[in-house]
Amino acid sequence: MAKILSIGNIVLDIVSVVENLPKEDQEIRALSRSNRIGGNVHNSLYVLQQLGHYTAICTSIANDPAGKKLLSGLSEHKINSENVQRFIQGSTPESHITLNAHNGSRTIVHFRDLPEVNFEFFAKIEIEAFDWLHFEGRNMEHLPGMLNIAKTFLDHQPISLEIEKPREGIEEVFQQANLLIISHHYASAKGYQNGDEAIRAVRQIAPQANIVCTWGAQGAWCQAPSSDIEHIPAIPVHPVIDTLGAGDTFNAGLIDGLISGHTLKESVQKASELAAKKIQKMGLDNILAADITNTAISNVSKLSKARATVVPLNGRKDVVLVMHNDAVKAYENNCPHQNVPLNEAYKIDIDPFDQTMKCSVHDAFFKIEDGECIDGPCWGEHLKPVEIRVEENGDVFLAH
Ligand code: FRU
Repeated sequence: MAKILSIGNIVLDIVSVVENLPKEDQEIRALSRSNRIGGNVHNSLYVLQQLGHYTAICTSIANDPAGKKLLSGLSEHKINSENVQRFIQGSTPESHITLNAHNGSRTIVHFRDLPEVNFEFFAKIEIEAFDWLHFEGRNMEHLPGMLNIAKTFLDHQPISLEIEKPREGIEEVFQQANLLIISHHYASAKGYQNGDEAIRAVRQIAPQANIVCTWGAQGAWCQAPSSDIEHIPAIPVHPVIDTLGAGDTFNAGLIDGLISGHTLKESVQKASELAAKKIQKMGLDNILAADITNTAISNVSKLSKARATVVPLNGRKDVVLVMHNDAVKAYENNCPHQNVPLNEAYKIDIDPFDQTMKCSVHDAFFKIEDGECIDGPCWGEHLKPVEIRVEENGDVFLAH
């Protein structure tokens, strides 16, 4: 277990899963919608935490309700948040993400008006208490100063730096990092044709660094100082469910590999395996768990509009499945009134005319369409939707 401090961004991700990406000026319905905690360093830390490390984030947080959600999310993800800088001005950064259900691609519209963590704030952190510092290559106003301090005060702790996008002046800090993780967005924007070319160019600027360049389906390239450049092919994956945060997962796998004493090449291999695992499931929860999303929980042919089917699941709340028009609706089998299973006293009755289903305990009526309670003791509350995917043969899977 290592103590890892990451400096960068935390974001509210609003994710809509769609059948197909909309065209300009088109309006479409999303298959599902969820809010996640995102941002590159948050995502990497969440994975590192699941890999067994102690993780802490240094980021800026807005003083709004979404900011509070992010803070409680950090504590749910067991990421230490002592070093977050609160700002009155600006709002929580948001990403509006459209996830294509067919190929897992993610299209992001990001909004940010929140100030970045400043140098003075960072300078007060006791960075010597950490074993590894990981920086997001952003915040060009303060990043050079932060890296300078880190270089001055740390004698053995490695510093990694993620270079996702080209930014004015970013090359000037390359020398400060022990590990440079270059994305193909950066590399192609700089005109390099592949990772090999990118590493050769970056090597001129950072002679002592371990350099990794990731290139999606083309795999990754890496080079330890005074060694050859190596290419690690991508791991073929089918189906691709969700690519959001795949790069951040790769970075976590890479850092974990190096902390565990593997060579750079071995660590890149491990990082690719972890990223391949990630893109086969929704989100970053339980990233190491055996994948329960690979087993069908039901089939459309077994479901009905007139009957709620309760599917028992190991280690998590049962799911209620019911047809609504031609779609499968899935909710946690939990009544928000007293947090008891809807079928605790009797079966879940369906009213096909009102299109509602009823909790058997205190007769709360929920709309099948969206789970809203429209009559009964928890009026106005909602059943919790469960994200599912339905394959062409009608098999129903948990999305994550
Ligand atoms: C994924 C991600 C999202 C976030 C966006 C920020 O890598 O970190 O979680 O919204 O990128 O650019």
